[in-house]
Amino acid sequence: MNTAPLWSAETDDTLVCVRVRPETHDVKTFVFDAPAPRRFAYLPGQFVTLSLPIGPGGEVLHRCYTLSSSPTRPDRLSITVKRVPNGRVSNWLHDNLRPGMRVSANGPAGEFSCFAEGDAAQPWKLGGKGPQSYLFISGGSGITPVMSMTRALVDLASETDIVFVHAARSPADLIFADELLLLARQHPHLRVALVCEHPDEQRQWTGYTGRLDAALLQRIVPNLAEREVYTCGPAPFMAAVRGMLVAAGHPPSRYREESFNFESLAPSPAVPVGDAPAGSTEAGSTYRVSLSRLGDQYECRSDQSLLAAAVAAGVRLPASCSTGLCGTCKTRKLSGEVSMSHKGGIRQREIDQGWILPCCSIPLSDVVLER
Ligand SMILES: Cc1cc2nc3c(=O)[nH]c(=O)nc-3n(C[C@H](O)[C@H](O)[C@H](O)COP(=O)(O)OP(=O)(O)OC[C@H]3O[C@@H](n4cnc5c(N)ncnc54)[C@H](O)[C@@H]3O)c2cc1C
Ligand code: FES
Repeated sequence: MNTAPLWSAETDDTLVCVRVRPETHDVKTFVFDAPAPRRFAYLPGQFVTLSLPIGPGGEVLHRCYTLSSSPTRPDRLSITVKRVPNGRVSNWLHDNLRPGMRVSANGPAGEFSCFAEGDAAQPWKLGGKGPQSYLFISGGSGITPVMSMTRALVDLASETDIVFVHAARSPADLIFADELLLLARQHPHLRVALVCEHPDEQRQWTGYTGRLDAALLQRIVPNLAEREVYTCGPAPFMAAVRGMLVAAGHPPSRYREESFNFESLAPSPAVPVGDAPAGSTEAGSTYRVSLSRLGDQYECRSDQSLLAAAVAAGVRLPASCSTGLCGTCKTRKLSGEVSMSHKGGIRQREIDQGWILPCCSIPLSDVVLER
């Protein structure tokens, strides 16, 4: 039994790649250990943010990757990454990350999980009775969070009934298909349906063919209205799934989804620069935000995040989740006061050293950021 200390998002920040496993022609799984023995505790469905100094001039690029592993096997973590055409980080990981190499990581974070928060050592522990049945629906690389949940539920011999519907373009694009079919054979409460838009010429295909639509989904899961639904995939896929569920009378309160781009959470539009003079406004005060390196300045209301005001002013600051989760916008504050309300995207020791997350910080005075 692993009795190593728990990985702490507060003090641990390095992962060592121990294995790279090809999953499909454009998807690889990267397995990680910590440099010193650690046990990883997280909710299935959570993600880590990798920070890699691989941009132009060594610029650090931040990207979130869901943990495809299960916390029921706490010795190691894995992420499963699809190559995005011309994508900087996904292609770098595929082409360069090898066993023995270290990467900087923040997290785990995120709220997309069918597991409730438990105690610190086993936050993934199944609590209470929970729902009686799940429907997991994933498209493409959106399989990772629901795969983690499925692996955990199976490991825990959960008696919750699960239907897992995974859609891909073709059989060659199916991620984790063999493992899912094996788990379904071994686990009486798991049923797997694989759906491909078109079959491969070279391979025999015995799953469902065509685009997932309302009729097919209802054929696969006649009692879907009774199920707790978790969906992850490209935005148009999730929009289509929402439509199918509404058509089937599924209550929206039992629907959860995860997006791999945080566009839907983009900062709210703010008053354009120039429209909000420094000083008092109806919403409260307005402060000046200065960026020391870029030499830019913009106004920010006291009810507005530093990031939202920058977006409104046409000033580019790095950001991803816009909600204080991922750490992408982390910036050193050189002077001024802010009120920050984050969700784990920054460590206490970083806050103590003067770092803030502009996406979830509102100004209490004029502020100078090291940007
Ligand atoms: C919570 C969360 C979980 C995630 N989990 C996973 C996961 O489990 N697996 C996974 O594979 N991904 C996951 N992602 C997505 C991942 O974070 C990255 O977004 C993805 O790998 C693409 O990053 P990239 O650097 O390769 O692409 P980027 O370099 O960010 O490019 C993305 C796209 O934009 C285009 N683009 C980039 N720059 C420009 C430009 N200047 N002009 C025009 N077009 C441009 C690229 O061509 C590409 O199509 C997750 C994201 C989130 C938010
Ligand atoms: S953009 Fe994710 S923490 Fe700020």
